[in-house]
Amino acid sequence: MKQKIILDTDPGIDDAMAIAYAIAHPGIDLLALTTIFGNVRTGEATRNALALLDHWGSDADVAEGEFTPIAIPGHEPSYLVHGRNGLGGIDIPPSRRSKHALGAVDYIIEASKRHPGEIILCAVGPVTNLARLLERDSGIVSRLKAVIVMGGAVHRQGNVTPMAEANFWNDPHAADQVLGAHWPLVLAPLDCTMPVVFTPDYMQALARQSPAFGGPLAAMAEFYAGFYRSHLGISGCVPHDVMALSWLTVPGAFRLQKGALAVLTEGPAIGQTLFQPGGTRSRARCFDGRPDHLVMVDTDPGIFMADYMTVISGHTR
Ligand code: RIB
Ligand code: CA
Repeated sequence: MKQKIILDTDPGIDDAMAIAYAIAHPGIDLLALTTIFGNVRTGEATRNALALLDHWGSDADVAEGEFTPIAIPGHEPSYLVHGRNGLGGIDIPPSRRSKHALGAVDYIIEASKRHPGEIILCAVGPVTNLARLLERDSGIVSRLKAVIVMGGAVHRQGNVTPMAEANFWNDPHAADQVLGAHWPLVLAPLDCTMPVVFTPDYMQALARQSPAFGGPLAAMAEFYAGFYRSHLGISGCVPHDVMALSWLTVPGAFRLQKGALAVLTEGPAIGQTLFQPGGTRSRARCFDGRPDHLVMVDTDPGIFMADYMTVISGHTR
């Protein structure tokens, strides 16, 4: 039985790596992309989502999401990391399709009623749409099979500030609400993404194995890797967003912890992820009434990268 996935995304080069994986994986039924700001503006994310789906032969829907964070002014998109068009300057032909008539939140609500208990919502950008979803339909927490969020940094430094990871920094109030909700949530923070580096050799191998999928990804990765080289001294790039899907397909690649989560919504550490291990008590009131969630705290790069190569290579056209 294929896993029904809705991917909430701000494409974005590592988002494109995740979208390719979702389309290529035989065990995934990609129902839709819902778009959000972050790496680009929401309208640009919608444009990129439609173009990537068309380019890779997917008829998944695209439902456009929120344009601004729920409680702070929006930040300038991270064009420095993903390029002015969000795809490393690589020219993917524009789609002839239009976005769905429903907005992202209404689309997810409608789909969850059509497939109660079956849909896995994977969020790989700021979680504004998910916070609006909780506001609009409290029953959603029992109609989704799982919610997997790429975001935050638990036992590691952030990547936008020393304290905050980009997705949570872009909408900290939404992140705090999403992590405090009583739904089956798994968090994929920088702890599980940073151990994996797609080197230039790895990307070229992907391009050889699958010109249609690996070719554009390798071209995009050249821009993305330029940021990692100049800012982090890393030779390659990190496929953050793919982890939100790989938890479903190769769970053995990950080490887990369980505990309560919160996100700072003000002050110099705004966007910082707060974590209290399961079964422990403390004087910190911010975890009161919050459920324990699974957190992916480490990754076996060998297992993860072998799987990604196998899945993408399976699409040789
Ligand atoms: O911090 C990494 C996250 O921020 C990824 O989702 C990347 O695409 C950016 O959105
Ligand atoms: Ca992203």
